[in-house]
Amino acid sequence: MVIREGCSDDIEAVLRLWARAADGASVTDGPVGIGRLLPHDPGALLIADHDGALIGTVVAGCDGWRGHIYRLAVDPEHRRRGLASALLAAAHDRFAALGAILVDAMVEDDNTAARATYDVLGYRRHSGRSRWIRELP
Ligand SMILES: CC(C)(COP(=O)(O)OP(=O)(O)OC[C@H]1O[C@@H](n2cnc3c(N)ncnc32)[C@H](O)[C@@H]1OP(=O)(O)O)[C@@H](O)C(=O)NCCC(=O)NCCS
Repeated sequence: MVIREGCSDDIEAVLRLWARAADGASVTDGPVGIGRLLPHDPGALLIADHDGALIGTVVAGCDGWRGHIYRLAVDPEHRRRGLASALLAAAHDRFAALGAILVDAMVEDDNTAARATYDVLGYRRHSGRSRWIRELP
């Protein structure tokens, strides 16, 4: 297994993985959304690649100030083998190289696997705040 940067050739496989492995769907899950991410923040899409099979992803977005984790997802057949930990370590390396000193991730309160993963990697729940979103026209 290697962790590598994703490219436009990966978009279909990434979307297939997210459909079966991600925690819910997002309006940004689509060829257009990923197609905009790749040139905007090259290197943000990190992929766990096992002999050409895409088995995990994380979007490690960096705005030049902070790092933001999205779409951490591991193929159900490959879980509990350290893949998410390796993907997040690669994300942290990317953020550090870009000068970010703070990273955040959105985690559903009832997602026990994700909570356990972030917890073991040193993240702490930011209590007293909630995420506010709206879709743009
Ligand atoms: C959450 C997820 C990414 C974890 O991926 P993973 O590759 O299995 O995680 P790792 O193997 O790196 O686990 C690291 C540690 O996190 C904890 N952990 C991970 N999954 C866990 C689970 N289901 N239950 C309890 N602890 C868990 C354990 O401490 C684990 O170490 P251990 O296996 O030595 O005990 C994976 O379950 C997944 O893709 N879930 C669906 C998508 C999702 O919820 N993404 C997160 C959105 S915020």
